[in-house]
Amino acid sequence: MGLIIKALIFLIFCTTCTFSDKIDSTKDGLQQEEATRRPLPWWLMMDRYKTIGIPNPTQLFPNSGKACIPIDGTVGEDNGQENAFWYFREDLLVNAQHIFWHLTHPIMLDNPNGTLTNDRRGELFYYFHRNVLARYDAERLAKGFNRVVALRYEEGAIVGQGYDPHFQEGTTEFTYPPRPSNMPFINITRFTRLWQTVYADINNRMLIARDGRFVALDDLKGIDYLGELIEASINNINEDRYSFEGIHNAGHGHIGSMFNEGGNFTARGVMLNPSTSMRDPVFYQWHKLVDDIFYRHHSYMAPNHPTVGQFPLLWQGVSVESISVRAASSESPNLLQTFFKNLTISIPIKQDIFMSNETIEYCMKRLEYDEFTYNITIEKQPSVNSEKATVRVFMAPRFNEVGQRFSLDEQTRQFFAMDSFVVHLNYGKTVVTRNSSSSNLNLNWKLENWMDSPPSYEQPECGCGWPSNLLLPTGNAQGMVFDLFVMVTNAEIDTPENLNLMQEPQCKMSTILCGIKDQKYPDIRPMGYPFDTKPFQVSVPGGPRMVANLEEYVSLLPNTKATQVTIRHS
Ligand SMILES: *[C@@H]1O[C@H](CO)[C@@H](O)[C@H](O)[C@H]1NC(C)=O
Ligand SMILES: *[C@@H]1O[C@H](CO)[C@@H](O)[C@H](O)[C@H]1NC(C)=O
Ligand SMILES: *[C@@H]1O[C@H](CO)[C@@H](O)[C@H](O)[C@H]1NC(C)=O
Ligand SMILES: *[C@@H]1O[C@H](CO)[C@@H](O)[C@H](O)[C@H]1NC(C)=O
Ligand SMILES: *[C@@H]1O[C@H](CO)[C@@H](O)[C@H](O)[C@H]1NC(C)=O
Ligand SMILES: *[C@@H]1O[C@H](CO)[C@@H](O)[C@H](O)[C@H]1NC(C)=O
Ligand SMILES: *[C@@H]1O[C@H](CO)[C@@H](O)[C@H](O)[C@H]1NC(C)=O
Repeated sequence: MGLIIKALIFLIFCTTCTFSDKIDSTKDGLQQEEATRRPLPWWLMMDRYKTIGIPNPTQLFPNSGKACIPIDGTVGEDNGQENAFWYFREDLLVNAQHIFWHLTHPIMLDNPNGTLTNDRRGELFYYFHRNVLARYDAERLAKGFNRVVALRYEEGAIVGQGYDPHFQEGTTEFTYPPRPSNMPFINITRFTRLWQTVYADINNRMLIARDGRFVALDDLKGIDYLGELIEASINNINEDRYSFEGIHNAGHGHIGSMFNEGGNFTARGVMLNPSTSMRDPVFYQWHKLVDDIFYRHHSYMAPNHPTVGQFPLLWQGVSVESISVRAASSESPNLLQTFFKNLTISIPIKQDIFMSNETIEYCMKRLEYDEFTYNITIEKQPSVNSEKATVRVFMAPRFNEVGQRFSLDEQTRQFFAMDSFVVHLNYGKTVVTRNSSSSNLNLNWKLENWMDSPPSYEQPECGCGWPSNLLLPTGNAQGMVFDLFVMVTNAEIDTPENLNLMQEPQCKMSTILCGIKDQKYPDIRPMGYPFDTKPFQVSVPGGPRMVANLEEYVSLLPNTKATQVTIRHS
């Protein structure tokens, strides 16, 4: 396997690494970066990655030394207590969907114009990763762990927890090295300055474009501009000010090459490759730091308000009367179930660039849940003309680490999407039943049907979406309480013009996390709406204050409803 191809594999995230055509992995990319920064070499073009570079996720597997490779938490036992979340971080599809997300929304294209026109790509970058973080936090709270704490991003700051991925590439036999614990960030001053610049501009509510123009951060597009400069992207509003590399990619590069304190930076860690990075616990700490930037922006935004602003929360004349869920197997409503299932799966290495016909056998313990049905009753008054409603469903843990009820302000960041879909509304009552397996969050693929036609790098969008077996958080043995929230809004306002929602059944993208190929994002409201801003203020004796909790919020907005759901893990 050629050096270039090998280098591609770990350089996809490392836009700060060497840009010369001769790869010298013993040198710190930052030192070489200034000299070789532009023009960007062909192999940084994501289109080419699809056909040449990165191994398909099915060609990456734990190196257990066993014939049937176990994916059951035993391989990473030496990683300490963080190994408790192996079923999430080391899930094959969690890692696969991450690379497919990034290939669906590449940082650049090598078409003659070099343009990248994916709708709201920067905003989707924020929203996709926000969902991942909220879901990971829900797993942590279920097991009595603290929610993820952002890394400290300063010269010399120590990354405490190390990680041994025990992981190799099937075709090259390259083994990803363990990332030692207590390694420092070195030579990152340029990026901590960049980080400060971005924060300063957010605080000023202004970005500065390439031509010197000030671009206000308070409109709908603000979050999109931010996403496009925090992740490396050809759409960066000002590469000179905000750096093409992007804070997000720089961090992946720095952490992914954090191996030798003596300056021998070997850029080879799992954090450098989007098809392996979600395995490392540090991924979530790093992304929390990235998410904090978006959160700062959101906390300056005018809160979504019942009657004021571009997207008022209230929909006069429409109310949600009830919401409940029921699992097929369960007698009682609002009690859901997760469990581990043992299965053996053989996966042919079809995408192998050497065209070998080998198969890999996995002996896996996989998290699954009992499918359930939502039952949502909506009431529409004769005064309402619209015939269609968007039904937005979210979930979040109800209690924090010490068992206290979340304030709404804190909980907004813990909500993760469960579904979002459009229904026809009758006058009077409409009963909406919706099967969890139909969720627009779900990846269409299961490992079982990967055998016949795996998503390929030519059509990465077919592999983009959240693994359907992980739709529901694990909960715990006692039963963990979640808030299930639903909001209905006017779909005649929400839906962009000329949207064609018909997707090929074999290639159904998660519309929520991935959008739809070559089309507008199917919902014109801000991603995460209504939880994309701080809660609005209410006037109460003693002066205005923020809405205290979800119950109060729902009581003020008849087109929303919440209920408590218990998730039991057996
Ligand atoms: C390049 O730009 C031109 C003019 O904007 C456009 O017509 C053409 O479709 C673009 N080509 C690609 C491959 O995007
Ligand atoms: C950090 O940068 C300085 C100068 O820019 C250089 O002398 C030093 O070798 C670098 N350290 C590492 C670990 O790369
Ligand atoms: C640096 O990396 C090279 C090449 O992998 C290796 O031979 C050398 O021993 C390493 N040096 C240190 C100090 O780790
Ligand atoms: C799954 O397999 C493990 C051993 O690998 C066994 O201990 C466990 O009982 C099995 N679980 C189920 C639900 O069959
Ligand atoms: C792999 O299988 C294909 C089709 O079954 C066959 O044409 C090809 O020769 C096989 N390759 C090897 C290396 O055995
Ligand atoms: C959901 O749909 C799947 C597939 O169509 C079906 O097998 C399952 O029984 C349904 N679940 C419920 C709770 O209705
Ligand atoms: C849905 O919920 C309503 C209100 O609680 C109830 O009357 C109705 O029977 C439920 N429908 C189904 C299919 O469970």
